[in-house]
Amino acid sequence: MSTEKNFEHVKIEKVEEGNYAIISIIRPDKLNALQNQTLREIAEALETMEVDQSIRCVVLRGTKEFTKKPAFSAGADLSDRSSADLDPDNLRHQSHAMYRRHRYYNLIEAFPKPLIAAIDGYALGGGFELVLVCDISIASKRSIFGFPEIQRGIFPANGGTQRLIRNLGKMRVKRMMFFGEHYTAEQMFNWNVISFVVDDDKFEDFVHERASWLGNAPTNSLFLIKKSIDYGTQTPLNIGLQFEHMGYAINSRSKDVAEGISAFLQKRKPKFQGK
Ligand code: COA
Repeated sequence: MSTEKNFEHVKIEKVEEGNYAIISIIRPDKLNALQNQTLREIAEALETMEVDQSIRCVVLRGTKEFTKKPAFSAGADLSDRSSADLDPDNLRHQSHAMYRRHRYYNLIEAFPKPLIAAIDGYALGGGFELVLVCDISIASKRSIFGFPEIQRGIFPANGGTQRLIRNLGKMRVKRMMFFGEHYTAEQMFNWNVISFVVDDDKFEDFVHERASWLGNAPTNSLFLIKKSIDYGTQTPLNIGLQFEHMGYAINSRSKDVAEGISAFLQKRKPKFQGK
């Protein structure tokens, strides 16, 4: 069970009544900056949650117990020296460095249940890229987004240049990545980059409410919606529509379909089991 694993960079909690789990990045002294270990632990925690039927939604966030400034994550840990096995002058080694990181982002993105990014504070660089591999993003108003890599002489290579362009026009993506400026949560919401922006004092309740809703929703339908959107849209339309044909067939065997329809006809609230 994920909750019994010994993670150093993340903390796992289960919210039983909401059928969801929380993965908190616990590196507050570095504003939750990401090392490969952090990403690996997130991916490993998610993998165990994939088969845990009591977890039907996951919230990824920065620790509530911040020591300096609130942060989801301030991006790649610029002080990290853990890739010492890679030769900085060997181009293939440097390409492999990115392969290592992409592997974790891809694993996180492929998690089959709803994954909510709950952002309170900085979401910069690799932290912003982590938001982009989640399904739903909820940000407090005080949150700050951006790609500061250009100011460090690097560029957003954890999927940033490729994933952000898929929900935002290239003039705005290049604006963000060329200048490395900070943006407010409201701007990101208005630009269609995040799902919700909420007042700071309502943030925790709102995250709990949305995670509980998804934790009590028909899990199979959510899985099929997620796969159809994430993978069906990477193909021509006629292939994408096949995801719906097959997804519909798979979902029809779900007990939650019968429950949803019966509840409607009986004028009562459905009780979905996630099966
Ligand atoms: N990697 C490693 N440490 C980081 C970090 C990062 N990406 N971001 C912040 N930290 C550390 C700082 O070094 C500092 O540590 P210290 O108190 O021991 O000196 C601590 O977190 C607080 O950061 P600080 O810069 O003092 O806070 P601030 O409020 O003045 O600024 C930021 C906050 C996020 C704007 C600023 O820290 C920053 O620009 N960080 C780098 C972001 C970045 O470039 N990310 C992309 C990396 S590719």
